[in-house]
Amino acid sequence: MIKSKHLALAAAIMWIPGISVCQAQTPSVEQQIIDAMTKAFGVHPGFRANHAKGIVVEGHFKATPEAAKLSKAAIFNGSTIPVTVRFSDATGVPNIPDGSSHASPHGIAIKYHLPDGGETDMVLNSLKFFPVSTGEEFRDLLLATVASPPNAPKPTKLETFIKAHPTVPMALATLATPDSFADENYFGVDAFIFVNTAGKKQAVRYIIEPQKLVHLSEDAADKEPPNFLMDELPKRLAKGPVVFHLKAQLAAPDDQTKDPAQPWPVDRPVVDLGVLTIDKAVPDSMDAQKKLLFLPGQLIDGIQKSDDPLIDVRDGAYAISFSRRSQ
Ligand code: HEM
Repeated sequence: MIKSKHLALAAAIMWIPGISVCQAQTPSVEQQIIDAMTKAFGVHPGFRANHAKGIVVEGHFKATPEAAKLSKAAIFNGSTIPVTVRFSDATGVPNIPDGSSHASPHGIAIKYHLPDGGETDMVLNSLKFFPVSTGEEFRDLLLATVASPPNAPKPTKLETFIKAHPTVPMALATLATPDSFADENYFGVDAFIFVNTAGKKQAVRYIIEPQKLVHLSEDAADKEPPNFLMDELPKRLAKGPVVFHLKAQLAAPDDQTKDPAQPWPVDRPVVDLGVLTIDKAVPDSMDAQKKLLFLPGQLIDGIQKSDDPLIDVRDGAYAISFSRRSQ
């Protein structure tokens, strides 16, 4: 009896390290994505694996009464909620020229500071929908890109991937360089579920709309100075606040919520959730952005995740990127 107990224990001890070694040899999809991003963009200690170049600003959000009817979340109760916001260029290259086509999609990340000390985040970009449907596909897209330098034999891995995933060029075609971070629209892409005080659920996708949308031609964007978006925003804020409307596209009951590469039909209603006012540039943006972590799945009562698998993959990947850039 004693012998068999010891055997079981020994077996357990040997088995558990076996499993952990096995896990260490098979990185999670989130780790594989971060590794693929590092291959694609290079090693830049202290910077985000994606959206490395950015600028931090501050302001507040005030919801409309319509928002409170859809969600019981504290950010929608009509009080003025302070926000920290980071605008960014795509890629993990910290000195990418703002006008480069690779700097698109541009991003906006919002951290809402609740009166009880809690926080909730929204992380949107200028893609109207995502190029692929899952984390595994996103990893494969990154790896295909890395394996397709200009001299790669035809068809390249990227060409083959795109042929099998026509949503990639369709999504990229929704991008353009704005003349200012203030003059761009941003999309939440992933679906979230609002829950109101009566317990009614509604699937939504966020949209952030500027007061005016101004896109540059590719030629004009190429001619802009390398930091024109980062430099313009503080100058604009010195003259007055920048205003956006946070909106929600409402899904019909049968609309799928799990595929971020499939937008909902354009005739779905869009509700104005409130006004996002940005009125202050943060003096040491570089230092501030290092300490900030925005997570799409950092939610509060009244806002839930949908079955979109990207939300968890993003949370995992952002956390790995944060831990690597904080070392
Ligand atoms: C599988 C899909 C995705 C992966 C793996 C991914 C990965 C990442 C990573 C690793 C970062 C850096 C995070 C950090 O160090 O703090 C990041 C930042 C960012 N991502 Fe994603 N992303 C994905 C999809 C999306 C989507 C769908 C959007 C928008 C709708 C988006 C918008 C952004 C923005 C705006 C930032 C900058 C956040 C900040 O300012 O701190 N990403 N992403």
